[in-house]
Amino acid sequence: MSRSAHPAGPRHADVLPEGHPSAPPADLNHLDRKVWASTVTRTPDGVVSVGGIEVTRLAEEFGTPAYLLDETDFRERARAWRTAFGPDADVFYAGKAFLSRAVVRWLHDEGLNLDVCSGGELTTALSAGMPADRIAFHGNNKSVDEIETAIRAGVGRIVLDSFQEIVRVAHIAQSLGKRQRVQIRITVGVEAHTHEFIATAHEDQKFGIPLAGGQAAEAVRRALQLDGLELIGIHSHIGSQIFDMSGFEVAAHRVVGLLKDIRDEHGVELPEIDLGGGLGIAYTSDDDPREPHEIAKALTEIVSRECEGAKLRTPRISVEPGRAIVGPTAFTLYEVGTIKPLDGLRTYVSVDGGMSDNIRTALYDAEYSVALVSRTSEAAPMLVRVVGKHCESGDIVVKDAFLPADLAPGDLIAVPATGAYCRSMASNYNHALRPPVVAVRDGEARVIVRRETEEDLLRLDVG
Ligand code: LLP
Repeated sequence: MSRSAHPAGPRHADVLPEGHPSAPPADLNHLDRKVWASTVTRTPDGVVSVGGIEVTRLAEEFGTPAYLLDETDFRERARAWRTAFGPDADVFYAGKAFLSRAVVRWLHDEGLNLDVCSGGELTTALSAGMPADRIAFHGNNKSVDEIETAIRAGVGRIVLDSFQEIVRVAHIAQSLGKRQRVQIRITVGVEAHTHEFIATAHEDQKFGIPLAGGQAAEAVRRALQLDGLELIGIHSHIGSQIFDMSGFEVAAHRVVGLLKDIRDEHGVELPEIDLGGGLGIAYTSDDDPREPHEIAKALTEIVSRECEGAKLRTPRISVEPGRAIVGPTAFTLYEVGTIKPLDGLRTYVSVDGGMSDNIRTALYDAEYSVALVSRTSEAAPMLVRVVGKHCESGDIVVKDAFLPADLAPGDLIAVPATGAYCRSMASNYNHALRPPVVAVRDGEARVIVRRETEEDLLRLDVG
């Protein structure tokens, strides 16, 4: 389909549904640095480029929809986290946000460790050469096979999530003649200010062992008694897409409180604490995320202060950012298919992907922004809802945004900040083919995860 501009469509700039929160931005061609990957820019001819390559060329070569990942930005962000925390702390990238072998190699190059939460992620990490001792293995229901594979591989730590798992991991380690380094994940009872489905430190949920009622202390007691385990620390992850640091402060306070109780009861000072991931990123211009150096400073100060108060040696801190590293580095490139103006409401813009490549809008009511990237336009803003091609009315990619009123079929639009939890949560709903991830750097583009094909779908269908 041609990408040339079509005659102007109906204008809806002056028709906002009642209670609509935002006004159109002053300049629709402007790319807000906050939400776009660092090398994204608009070239003099109006086309947006990433890593020095125009999106129109990328669309021709790799098709749409596609996740375009700015490798330079990824490496810069990984390095910024590593540098901010310094040599006395560890940064474990949370692979669940997005993992591929290229990503593992970049992390390895940049000196980061890796958090995996399934056998599949572990295999990917090991197959790309991440040293096992730099891998942490998570999960609330790791299978016996997964635990065995992780211990045999020699993972640096397994994060224990339940009383049963304490015994299970100890038993498997012992039967393999090993002593496994472990942390215990606790829930500290903090209400993180984020969507209910991604808040994880309140007690009424499936992760971790509650600090409340002495359960975490009991878990420590049991772990310390088992020969197959070397208890190295306590883990807390309070949730995801969090901007307010106060939840981390309370978590650090409570984790250090437990370390103190452990010292008092057992005469043991555990050498490590992990404060998890969860730092928010900008999805729209309204979001104001913190920089890694501010986060590192805040967290290390809280922990040192708390330890000083408790007369404990300051433990080695680790953190597990996923979204904050990969989220802003990619955008999804779509081609506009049909455009349906609904008078007095909004215009529905259908793209060639949808909830199969970005489930976050439907699942968490997530907000995204969108821009016309194959050209500029001076047309008036129109209120749009960007929707996919799936058989479901909840198939929404961007709920409310503005695009130029001359938007036309064949135009390319892009949704920024889709690096985290989009490809990794992508599905084959309606037998959609999951889009490729194309890494772009210094004028070169390469596919790091290829597009699925119909043959891939049929290969699984063995009936
Ligand atoms: N560490 C642990 C133990 C975690 O469970 C998670 C995320 C992370 C680290 C990384 O969190 P991040 O820095 O990426 O926020 N699918 C949801 C997010 C689920 C997060 C699950 N755990 C979303 O799309 O928002």
